[in-house]
Amino acid sequence: MTYRMFEEKHHASIYQRYRFVPPEEIRDIILHYLERKNVQPHALAVDLGCGTGQNSRLMAPHFQEVVGIDISECQLEEARAVTGFNNITYR
Ligand SMILES: C[S@@+](CC[C@H](N)C(=O)[O-])C[C@H]1O[C@@H](n2cnc3c(N)ncnc32)[C@H](O)[C@@H]1O
Repeated sequence: MTYRMFEEKHHASIYQRYRFVPPEEIRDIILHYLERKNVQPHALAVDLGCGTGQNSRLMAPHFQEVVGIDISECQLEEARAVTGFNNITYR
């Protein structure tokens, strides 16, 4: 039996409120990896299983475009409600 924990609106709302901001070390590891690979510019980041978008927003200043993807429409609704990140789209 499977249970999809992130589907409910209430769960998504609580997740948005209490999920801690991801540490900047994660962002730095990703950016240093791309630097070593000599990938410039940073065109597109895809955040698969983005939830309410914390990691998408962490990446937004460093990429031309960020696409957050999640199976839960309620998680995406919470992500979309955070304004000020014009280069992020959620699907
Ligand atoms: C533990 S949360 C992590 C969310 C986010 N990455 C974060 O760090 O806060 C896992 C997320 O993966 C999503 N998810 C699970 N299965 C998925 C699938 N097959 N495709 C896309 N998203 C999925 C869930 O809906 C949930 O939002």
